[in-house]
Amino acid sequence: MELETTSLDECAALGSAPAMPKKVFVKTYGCQMNVYDSQRMTDALVADGYVATEAIDNADLVLLNTCHIREKAAEKVYSELGRLRDLKSERAEAGRDLTIGVTGCVAQAEGGEILRRSPSVDLVIGPQTYHRLPDVLAKVRKGEKVVETDYAIEDKFEHLPQPRRAEVIKRGVTAFLTVQEGCDKFCTFCVVPYTRGSEVSRPVKQIVAEAERLAEAGVREVTLLGQNVNAWHGEGPDGSEWGLGRLLFRLAEIPGLARLRYTTSHPRDMDDDLIAAHRDLAVLMPYLHLPVQSGSDRILKAMNRRHKAADYLRLIERVRGARADIAMSGDFIVGFPGETEGDFEATMQIVREVGYASAFSFKYSPRPGTPGAEMDGHVPDEVKDERLQRLQSLLVEQQQGFTQSMVGRTMSTLIEKPGRQAGQKVGRSPWLQPVIVDEKVAEIGDIVDVRITKTGYNSLFAEPA
Ligand code: SAH
Ligand code: SF4
Ligand code: F3S
Repeated sequence: MELETTSLDECAALGSAPAMPKKVFVKTYGCQMNVYDSQRMTDALVADGYVATEAIDNADLVLLNTCHIREKAAEKVYSELGRLRDLKSERAEAGRDLTIGVTGCVAQAEGGEILRRSPSVDLVIGPQTYHRLPDVLAKVRKGEKVVETDYAIEDKFEHLPQPRRAEVIKRGVTAFLTVQEGCDKFCTFCVVPYTRGSEVSRPVKQIVAEAERLAEAGVREVTLLGQNVNAWHGEGPDGSEWGLGRLLFRLAEIPGLARLRYTTSHPRDMDDDLIAAHRDLAVLMPYLHLPVQSGSDRILKAMNRRHKAADYLRLIERVRGARADIAMSGDFIVGFPGETEGDFEATMQIVREVGYASAFSFKYSPRPGTPGAEMDGHVPDEVKDERLQRLQSLLVEQQQGFTQSMVGRTMSTLIEKPGRQAGQKVGRSPWLQPVIVDEKVAEIGDIVDVRITKTGYNSLFAEPA
């Protein structure tokens, strides 16, 4: 997380004048929601007297905010915990403490098991109880080991402190904002309904207040997050139920917010209002991440996706009818149990028909406790590897074609940060591509029209239009 300096005055105000404030280092794995959660946990700890550090060697508290989606993701945590155990013993020899915490989806899924496998861990806390982090740390300071993985009945968002203006400014001109969390869909491959719990939508008032706060601190682009963001159905100010389309119209009124995005969507929850938002709202960026996972109806059924390949194609036609320049992105799983060569070919076919601007593709990873793991017909790893390679070369080809098609076009770019090379700044196109411009072209936070002159592997080079 961001490196922060605290003045002595602030230390005194925190009542820790002679001692240095404790430093927290948060390492984030997994999806954007974990990035958001790491920020909110940092905010809660900053409000509790900690400062954030980007250097693990400085930290008094290390939190690993973990992901359980595939086996590899979950295993990474244990290798990191091995390194932290060594750091903790070095520290002990030097007479200094290191507190180790595991948060996120592995924490929720494995709970106390983590303490058994890694005794150097002090606390395990699941995503629904982050607001209790300061209390948990107070217990840890008294020598307790704490596992907190209930689904809290209180609304954690009500209890988490809002980020301070200084923090928001440091995080840059784009921000995430979770509006919906959890999932009731139970796709047979997926752990999310077990790690994030059932679907919860935040009320409009809370979301608008948070978005206004971000905009006041200079944020120009907000990405609304949810495991099923388009299933969001929050309470409106008048007590009626709103859908995501209506929420986007409301957020579009906030002064300073120039760009809106949302992710991740489920094909079953794209309603007419949301499609209309793509037609009518210029601030809603023309980019849609809409995972289909497979192009085979048989596999879609076994995955419990509850739609057919043709439904997905019709939906994309409707979205493109509303917003012709919309770019599609997706997620794919190869080698789900029972997947034949014919099923895989159907996936290749749907990719050819849709034409993706970008996509993520994965080998099926059996997850404990999910129905998929118990199914017959597991696909050998070599077959998964080979299919993944074929799928990825098609997707890369499409992505490169999309990038190439930008040359000569004029587009708006949000300038985000200094470039890696001196004299450059990096912005973001409406389609999420990095756009490299001369640093004199604009200031960070500006939205400027640029003309694309050439492309890099995935980035665009541009000059003022
Ligand atoms: N809510 C989103 C997906 C969230 S998980 C949706 O419904 O589409 C992000 C992606 O990880 C999924 O889209 C899927 O492609 C992949 N994924 C999830 N579980 C997986 C598993 N067991 N093995 C391989 N990939 C998986
Ligand atoms: Fe997982 Fe399916 Fe829910 Fe997406 S919709 S989070 S893939 S169970
Ligand atoms: Fe991973 Fe949890 Fe996100 S399992 S993908 S961190 S919701």
